[in-house]
Amino acid sequence: MENLKTFEKGADFTAKTLAGLENILAGELEALGAASVETGNRVVFFRGDKTLMYKANYLCRTALRILKPIGVFRVKSEQELYEKVKRIDWPSLFDVNKTFVVSASVFHSSLTNSLYAALKTKDAIADQFREKLGKRPYVSKENAQIHIDVHISQEECTISLDSSGESLHKRGYRVSVDKAPLNEVLAAGMIKLSGWKMDGDFIDPMCGSGTIPIEAAMLAMKIPAGYYRKNYSFEHWNDFEPVLFEKIKEEASGEICEYDHPIIASDRSYKAFGIARSNMRNAGLDKDIMLLNKPFEKVNPESGKGVLIFNPPYGLRLEEDELIELYKHIGDVLKNHFQGYEAWIITGNLEVAKFIGLRPSRKIILYNGPLESRFIKFEMYRGSKKAKKNNPSA
Ligand SMILES: C[S@@+](CC[C@H](N)C(=O)[O-])C[C@H]1O[C@@H](n2cnc3c(N)ncnc32)[C@H](O)[C@@H]1O
Repeated sequence: MENLKTFEKGADFTAKTLAGLENILAGELEALGAASVETGNRVVFFRGDKTLMYKANYLCRTALRILKPIGVFRVKSEQELYEKVKRIDWPSLFDVNKTFVVSASVFHSSLTNSLYAALKTKDAIADQFREKLGKRPYVSKENAQIHIDVHISQEECTISLDSSGESLHKRGYRVSVDKAPLNEVLAAGMIKLSGWKMDGDFIDPMCGSGTIPIEAAMLAMKIPAGYYRKNYSFEHWNDFEPVLFEKIKEEASGEICEYDHPIIASDRSYKAFGIARSNMRNAGLDKDIMLLNKPFEKVNPESGKGVLIFNPPYGLRLEEDELIELYKHIGDVLKNHFQGYEAWIITGNLEVAKFIGLRPSRKIILYNGPLESRFIKFEMYRGSKKAKKNNPSA
């Protein structure tokens, strides 16, 4: 039997992330003790044991899901896929009473239809259970306990157990959202990419539902990424060790600490303010984040240094003229109120971003959903930039 140790890429696990965050996630995994860490396009391959897999799910802020490959084989047709999936010993992995779901992605392959590949895989698993145990597990599209990932590229097929289940960006603290909320993994990744030093104010002056300041507070207070989340798919595997997972959670909770500098969130919309407030309360962070219902120009810096990270509206809902005025206004407020601060803005509208009128010192390509965006840094020196160059401590 072709039994199905994968590790062709030298990896026990594949962590998925958003484009542009691969190196950040690699750093998070290395800090947890992962070995042979290698980045790819929106993925990080790594080696480790079960403890590391639990930790990666619970602690990595920039992982979307952690896959455990269980079989790699060559495949040229749907029938061959069916036969080879059937060679994996499925009842050894999960109980027949669990519900399961299969998702497939197919690239450059003689198999062209990913839905059909998922269906064939599902049939092979169900048929094997029926043949071995006389009954089969049920499929659940919405709330499956076991998640199976099929990845076919050219003729190589990798079958993985998805240890996370629901995407890890679903942290569990959001009770509601306003317009265009950021993905939590993107927000955490932006904060990490900014190199936030945690030694001054942290300000999101257009906080919407509050995703960026909540992720900042979680990072600063060492609140685990999975602290508010209830479910991981690996808890339904036959080899789940609840005591080990509890121990990991307890140790991580023991690290939670106070944070001494201000984290300020504001939005001019009263509706957004209310939504951010309920999310912050739900996360138990309403005392740790100073939440204001003010327009940007009324947000006062507290300590005279720090960072602003925000995502202004960028056009889907505003008229072009209105948008240009907003971005000019952002530039003016940064220049006049926030000298000594760094500002990072994510926007999907590069044309309009030019109207900020400040020279960016970095631009990083990120994707906000499907929309290619730029994460742009501005440094607001005290006095002129020339003075700063002549006297770097100014
Ligand atoms: C794209 S949303 C932010 C989404 C947020 N990052 C989240 O994850 O939910 C932009 C927000 O900017 C706010 N906004 C727009 N212009 C503003 C201004 N001049 N002052 C303060 N807030 C403003 C809007 O009310 C909106 O909530």
